[in-house]
Amino acid sequence: MAKRKKTAKAKPKAAAKKSAKKVVKLKAKPKQPSPKGAAVGGLPKPSTKAWGQAGRALDGVRILDFTHVQSGPTCTQLLAYMGADVIKVERPGVGDITRGQLRDVKGADSLYFTMLNGSKRSITIDSKHAKGKEILERLVKQCDVLVENFAPGALDRMGLTWEHIHKLNPRMIVASVKGFGPGPYEDCKVYENVAQCAGGAASTTGFREGPPLVTGAQIGDSGTGLHLALGIVSALYQRLRTGRGQRVLCAMQDGVLNLARVKLRDQQRLAHGPLTEYSQHGEGIAFGKATPRAGNDSGGGQPGWILKCKGWENDPDAYIYFITQAPVWGEICDLIGKPEWKTESDYATPPARLPRLRHIFDTIEQWTMTKTKFEVMEICNRHDIPVGPILSMKEIAEEQSLRDTGTVVEVDHPQRGKYLTVGNPIKLSDSPPDVRRSPLLGEHTEEILSKVLGYKASEIAEIKTSGAITPPDKPAKAEAA
Ligand code: COA
Repeated sequence: MAKRKKTAKAKPKAAAKKSAKKVVKLKAKPKQPSPKGAAVGGLPKPSTKAWGQAGRALDGVRILDFTHVQSGPTCTQLLAYMGADVIKVERPGVGDITRGQLRDVKGADSLYFTMLNGSKRSITIDSKHAKGKEILERLVKQCDVLVENFAPGALDRMGLTWEHIHKLNPRMIVASVKGFGPGPYEDCKVYENVAQCAGGAASTTGFREGPPLVTGAQIGDSGTGLHLALGIVSALYQRLRTGRGQRVLCAMQDGVLNLARVKLRDQQRLAHGPLTEYSQHGEGIAFGKATPRAGNDSGGGQPGWILKCKGWENDPDAYIYFITQAPVWGEICDLIGKPEWKTESDYATPPARLPRLRHIFDTIEQWTMTKTKFEVMEICNRHDIPVGPILSMKEIAEEQSLRDTGTVVEVDHPQRGKYLTVGNPIKLSDSPPDVRRSPLLGEHTEEILSKVLGYKASEIAEIKTSGAITPPDKPAKAEAA
């Protein structure tokens, strides 16, 4: 506004008059809220409803979920937790292959499946059947986002090319997880550990003297699912301005590399000298050409290591991660009974300590071994010393505070009874998470055909006998079994 006025002053009289008129015109007609109380400056009026009572973040977003195994399902489950209506399309009679993988309860969907497909609806459609294709096309027209993580080319082979989808529904966002982006490996099938290896995580994980290691955290699958979810909500936001959908691609190699970016940082630092915070440096071992494995060294500039605690002889998780953060060095020295290290030149400063980290951590460990990991945690936190107890999955499953925050949730399932799942780790203050059990195979087929796609009862009866929603060799009654 100020800039506009200045420009008007510099203009010849007539032009200035015109501009002034414009300003008056603008002032005379300020943007009014619509009669229904909708838009002010492009946004609706702030809701007067209590926090958490104004629906969920993704209410109104409908997702055609063509995902399977882990990476894609992680993404769509998160979107479902945020309120999206996620319709999972599965092959009749078979479903997502994980329904039957790592089964712990006979005849029940596995935890592998149930923990990745909560809060979704399931419809069975044979995507290669003519009638199935017709149903799918109707779904494409009714949904906002199609998410898939098939092997490269599989979606095209079903006839659902980007061009075709875009023609059917120009607003549709098509989001895909693939193992690799365009390039020499683009046609490869990829699972979690392949991505961890190809994304630089495995070569930088483990101990220097041992082989590369994969991590327990599923950074290739769930990590890429998270990336994809961000891509989808960004595309939904852009669609508000452009009115059109777009393709979103997350390659698992890229997702892992993004999470391992500090190791690419270290790769470049190597050109300028040794990585002094790696304990290898203190041990006088020369660096090679690539970022090495760093054991339990801290990734940042504050040295850390995993130390034994009381009971370690019998409990594989009686350990704690201990960080010798520089500002609390004095407190650490006092706690472990080495007050002299506060002033001795070999220990007083971070650079002096770097070549002695092994000895320092061995000494701290003599102290941690006299206490349980929780005692160490409690004592250190009093002094602002950052430590992390190594929590077992048993301890996490039993941790009340994680239940209280909804990070660990118990849900009930008709086949398997109660089970634990991971709720929404992203907490929104005005969008309470919607964490429900996973659907049975085809549980919502009929409901979706009639309520979402508008098929009449007679048409549904025809569809049932067509073979489009039932396994080829089984009659319709097997549906949703
Ligand atoms: N009706 C009929 N056919 C269906 C179907 C349905 N509802 N749903 C899937 N199919 C078909 C597909 O069309 C495909 O057939 P095609 O190969 O004849 O075209 C077939 O099932 C198998 O799909 P595909 O993705 O190749 O499964 P796969 O078990 O052989 O491979 C992966 C699994 C995960 C390796 C592979 O999907 C992949 O690389 N995905 C991308 C990367 C990824 O997400 N990996 C992590 C998984 S956690």
